[in-house]
Amino acid sequence: MKILMVCLGNICRSPLAEGIMKHKVLEHGLDWQVDSAGTGSWHVGKLPDERSIDVAQTHGLDITDQRARQFQASDLDRYDLIFAMDASNYQDIIRMASDEGQKSKVEMIMNMVQPGMNQVVPDPYWGDDGFENVYQMLDAACAKVIEKYNS
Ligand code: 4NP
Repeated sequence: MKILMVCLGNICRSPLAEGIMKHKVLEHGLDWQVDSAGTGSWHVGKLPDERSIDVAQTHGLDITDQRARQFQASDLDRYDLIFAMDASNYQDIIRMASDEGQKSKVEMIMNMVQPGMNQVVPDPYWGDDGFENVYQMLDAACAKVIEKYNS
């Protein structure tokens, strides 16, 4: 299984999703690849946001090996599952898909917890208090990913 986590900047939400997912993959002894990307290019090459690094560290995860990169159309071939954090990430990815097979790989990540509800992982970039909430949402969603695809 190859999983890609996608948000807008690839510095706040999707690096946390990548770190949490990688940790659970290791815990379960799975041979899965996990990466993350942003639909935007502003932060390419940068470390995750300090607030994401901090909340990850609070939960025992080190995400400082990550560097932001931009989502590209070829990711729709390279990955089996592509999880969008919100509706705008989802639409941006779907717009780049070339066929139904590619589109079927893309899902809003919180639909793993509440299927079909299209709940968004709120963008915490402009405030200071959203990071723990984002962590908890992604932790629940990643647990469901393991449950669903670990067979
Ligand atoms: P992310 O958060 O998509 O969770 O990485 C953001 C980071 C940067 C910006 C927006 C959202 N920005 O506009 O620079």
